[in-house]
Amino acid sequence: MSIEVAVIPAAGRGTRMRPATRVVPKALLSVVDRPAVQYGVEEAARAGAKEAIVVVDLDTGHLISQHFTIEGPLPGLEDIRIRPAVQEEPLGLGHAVFEAREMVGDRPFLCILSDNIVRPGHDVLPALADGSEDGSVSVMCLREYGDEFLDKYGFVIPASDVEGGYLDLAGSIEKPGKDRAPSNLGLVGRYVFTPEIFSILEKTPPGALDEIQLTDGINQLGERGRLRGYVSDTDLLDVGTPAGLLKATVELGLHQFGSDFKDFLDGLVGE
Ligand code: UTP
Repeated sequence: MSIEVAVIPAAGRGTRMRPATRVVPKALLSVVDRPAVQYGVEEAARAGAKEAIVVVDLDTGHLISQHFTIEGPLPGLEDIRIRPAVQEEPLGLGHAVFEAREMVGDRPFLCILSDNIVRPGHDVLPALADGSEDGSVSVMCLREYGDEFLDKYGFVIPASDVEGGYLDLAGSIEKPGKDRAPSNLGLVGRYVFTPEIFSILEKTPPGALDEIQLTDGINQLGERGRLRGYVSDTDLLDVGTPAGLLKATVELGLHQFGSDFKDFLDGLVGE
């Protein structure tokens, strides 16, 4: 099945991308020929979404809106309605998702982090939607990470074996570190949520980094027995750091420009 609405949080401060983000929001930093947030909207459209709610910040959100409207719809995005939801203060990813509540209403939704881009040909949203039993169960995209990542991401508590790529989950912990890690399966930045997540996030207090953490909300879904995972075999391209943005630009550039760009790279590093 396809899920008709996508929420794309894009209101983060982007402090790891300073000074580039002093004026320009992180979501508008260009990767090859388009801003990072456009990749997220394109991914939502490919998954069959008819509506993309982009969560933007108060100061620069109008620029993100303008990007999608200024000369009419972008090619390939004619069939998706793009709407901004404003997060007035950057209180965390969980809070950003909550800000889409009124627009989403009582519908299941895709959630796409705008500073993570899928590799061409590796979309995971259809698999997440397929595992959601017509949008009645929340499904998290997961990936196996090495121990050095256990204090960087959210990790899940498995409640079953993996079968056909899917498993049941009992919860999740943000940045657990090696001592508290319940597994090596980390949250990757692509999700299907039932609207139940909103009433949970409304009551979720600030957690790690003093932010309202989406991982804490996901944990509550797990405690209610309403959570599944899908284990993906590819990572996303993280464009939230200077090195990540550079790597993503090179990888997507190779995909887009092919042998011309490869010859340039070969010449640069010596064959
Ligand atoms: P990050 O934690 O990577 O974004 O959030 P950030 O806060 O911009 O990062 P730094 O540490 O300051 O560099 C993951 C996703 O959640 C969104 C971000 O835009 C990104 O897509 N986000 C995060 C919000 O929309 N609002 C927030 O308050 C926090």
